[in-house]
Amino acid sequence: MNHPALLITRRLPEPVLALARAAFDVKLWPHDEPIGVQLLPWAQGCHALLVMATDRLDAALWQQLPPTVQAVSTYSVGHDHIDLTAATARGVPVFNTPDVLSDAVAETALLLMLSAARDASAAETTLRERRWGPWSPTRFLGRQLTGQRLGIYGMGRIGLGIAQRALGFGMQVQYHNRTVHPDANGFVYHPSLESLMAHSDVFCVCAPSTPQTRGAINAERLALLPHGAVFVNIARGDLIDEDALIEAITSGQVGAAGLDVYRNEPTIDPRFLELPRTTLLPHIGSATHDARNGMGRLAVEALQAFLLNQQRPANCLNPDVFPMRTAETATRP
Ligand code: DGY
Repeated sequence: MNHPALLITRRLPEPVLALARAAFDVKLWPHDEPIGVQLLPWAQGCHALLVMATDRLDAALWQQLPPTVQAVSTYSVGHDHIDLTAATARGVPVFNTPDVLSDAVAETALLLMLSAARDASAAETTLRERRWGPWSPTRFLGRQLTGQRLGIYGMGRIGLGIAQRALGFGMQVQYHNRTVHPDANGFVYHPSLESLMAHSDVFCVCAPSTPQTRGAINAERLALLPHGAVFVNIARGDLIDEDALIEAITSGQVGAAGLDVYRNEPTIDPRFLELPRTTLLPHIGSATHDARNGMGRLAVEALQAFLLNQQRPANCLNPDVFPMRTAETATRP
């Protein structure tokens, strides 16, 4: 029996490709650059797509997708690059990769907190540039995390992972969500983002990118942070007004920053590169072997369960689509 055809829009770790090839006839975009406008021609004849956070599946693209496409997985937990309303209108379920990357991203947040607070990036650059000089009691002074108030904006699975790890560093954890998180017992809840920011010595952005959160971190709110606070972002760049953040770091209002995500990745605002007391990573939050293999497994298994076994995987982002699928739209590949 022929396997259904699956377009994968970027080279994935070998174990993931092997899993995909066992169940699908895989068509692999072989380049390091995102597939971009080539997605449509490459999707011709495919029954499923495995896309990346760098691929934009907006309403216009959904309208033009070939009718053979019956399911889409994204190799990410974030899904701001996918118009789910348009997917549902097409009767196509979309799956993402929650949980399996939470530990990796939470560890990245701690890495950025520590590096920013101790200015590790600048210290290492000094050493690499052979400018270390004699040991000094007054150089490379940072701040320790012990006893600091950590404010988590967006207490989901990743936020909880950060909170639990921060306890080990002796931090006091607080958070803001629209509502109290049932598993966040013992962490102080702030009903407003403003209140959280006003009480955060270390502030970590973990909320997803949605119409409500985009641009939420603006000049007015950055001014609420205690002067010299540490700022970390492991979520999405578009939550931040980057002009305002750059200004806050330059003035010292933000005392140190650790960033993994930016607007317009990978073409980041060049002013970031010149900022003092700032650790910059190139969106590597989930970049561990464990997480990336787990993401691939989840993405492939959801397509397999849905297309080959008529199951409804729990990691579906638009479950409303299932009852809508009629005999016409649900034809087996
Ligand atoms: C995610 O999974 O959303 C990560 O940010 C990778 O894009």
